[in-house]
Amino acid sequence: MSVTRADFPAGFLFSTATSAYQIEGHGFGGAGRTHWDTFARRPGAVLNGDDGAVACDHYHRWPEDLDLVRDGGFDAYRFSTSWARIMPDGRSLNPEGLAFYDRLVDGMLDRGIKPMATLYHWELPQALSDKGGWTARDTVLRFADFTEVVARKLGDRLHSVAPVNEPWCVAWLSHYHGHHAPGLSTLRDGVRAMHHVALAHGMAAAVLRDERVPNVGAATNFEAALPATDREIDIAAAERFDGIYNRWFLGAMFRGAYPDDVLEGFGDHMPDRWQDDMATIHQPLDWFGINYYTCNRVIDTGGEWPALGSVVGPLPKTDMGWEIYPQGLTDLLGWIARDYTQETPLFVTENGMAHADVPGAEDAARIDFLDQHLQACLKAIETGVPLTGYTAWSLLDNFEWALGYEKRFGLIHVDYDTQARTPKASYHAMARALTDG
Ligand code: FCB
Repeated sequence: MSVTRADFPAGFLFSTATSAYQIEGHGFGGAGRTHWDTFARRPGAVLNGDDGAVACDHYHRWPEDLDLVRDGGFDAYRFSTSWARIMPDGRSLNPEGLAFYDRLVDGMLDRGIKPMATLYHWELPQALSDKGGWTARDTVLRFADFTEVVARKLGDRLHSVAPVNEPWCVAWLSHYHGHHAPGLSTLRDGVRAMHHVALAHGMAAAVLRDERVPNVGAATNFEAALPATDREIDIAAAERFDGIYNRWFLGAMFRGAYPDDVLEGFGDHMPDRWQDDMATIHQPLDWFGINYYTCNRVIDTGGEWPALGSVVGPLPKTDMGWEIYPQGLTDLLGWIARDYTQETPLFVTENGMAHADVPGAEDAARIDFLDQHLQACLKAIETGVPLTGYTAWSLLDNFEWALGYEKRFGLIHVDYDTQARTPKASYHAMARALTDG
């Protein structure tokens, strides 16, 4: 790595992340069925029909995993709490589930690791999905109750909290594109979820504040929106993509207003009296998290609104087929701070690459990816962006949603037959960069 901790401002935090369903082993500890368990049974929805029943068995192996976080030189660990583990039917408490996170948070503190919690990283209890999930307003109210339970149990020991991981994925990817659970694909379902997930963020942020939980933020995903050609219609399409993907939640969270161009397309699919919710969504935030992986080269498909398609770009790609575009991170941090978040501290809450590597291999591509994106962060800081931390996705190879266990994002290799953890060269490179500087 060409950068080390010493290149960053004092107090800059380095973190690594996972999420509950992707690593814990959802079959253990009395967790309830989630919409991902159901989605995995749908033919063709998830590669090989894989699910998170065992995953990385982190539910039992967490002490070893937290040792690896500490030994990697990381200051913080971004983890998530599974709603269906804590409340199997979305409403009633499973004390065993809550006790797991109690142990986990204490385990972080014992090792000098700051716990960065995300409350919802996608495992909706199936019982709530049956009642409409994120297309139904009631789910938002249930989420506020869940937030209160977590806040009361863990709130005094958390370094920071974000209510919803990647609201765009929860809403649009899962209810309009249908690529993630619950696999719905209508404009109406997508639009309703886009509002309810925003409201879930706002209501949860308010609950966290009422419960005096410190450092409340958000973890929102962004892609650099690039028109695929210089045709007028593709430039306009990139603007529409940017609106739905990048500006919808940003506008709601920081201005209390959705972008007009997107609202026009969403039309009367918006839930009744949505305007009354905007003040709730527009909560003060202590920090704002950005998950960044790639850019999107947008074309107008000529189809129904929003008529968005993408083409494959020329840059080198990760195993996901995602172009490697570190400049996009610098640019996003710049305009997000300038146009929306201003003095609010920013945090890169996810960044990383899928790469098919075997233990002992060089892992040069991942090291280079991390290095280039850390440099991109430094460039943003030099221009005055108040960036305060960076998170590598992921600590471990894990269940990569619709792509099952095939894509490997970990700094640490996981052998799914033996559950052996083997740190990759990128893990060692990060550890050196974080402890030498
Ligand atoms: C993000 C998700 C995370 C993981 C990475 C690769 O969209 O937050 O769970 O799947 O992508």
